[in-house]
Amino acid sequence: MNKEIDEIIKNSESLIEMLQKIQKIDGYLYFERLFYLSEKLDMSLEDIYSTATFYNGFSFNMKGKYQINICLGTVCYVKGSKELSEEISKILNIKDGECTKDGKFSLDTTRCLGCCSMAPVMKINDDIYGFVKKEQVKEILAKYN
Ligand code: FES
Repeated sequence: MNKEIDEIIKNSESLIEMLQKIQKIDGYLYFERLFYLSEKLDMSLEDIYSTATFYNGFSFNMKGKYQINICLGTVCYVKGSKELSEEISKILNIKDGECTKDGKFSLDTTRCLGCCSMAPVMKINDDIYGFVKKEQVKEILAKYN
């Protein structure tokens, strides 16, 4: 595990680049990897965390095989995306930012996904679903079983 981090340190020019590469390994920033990074860089874990939390693209929570993103941007919110998020939470028994116990699904609310004309929008990995109604959520999730 640490060999990968050593390689990343060797081949990166900035802390942000290192964090991006580390996140690609697990889909999120795994604590033990950050701990090792802090030792290797002789940098406090606190400094690494504050850099990572400053940017939106980093996550500290485990992600599922299928990563669900619900847009809570203004247009999607007005069109009911909050209800979609609540419905998914109910079906999968997870809250925003959590992953199911079997590691299959994770749920994250997000800012505008750039396709507001299809609001409300949900995304599962690279698949975008637009004009989603609460009643369709179960059926959409079933595609990923
Ligand atoms: S507000 Fe949801 S895609 Fe833009």
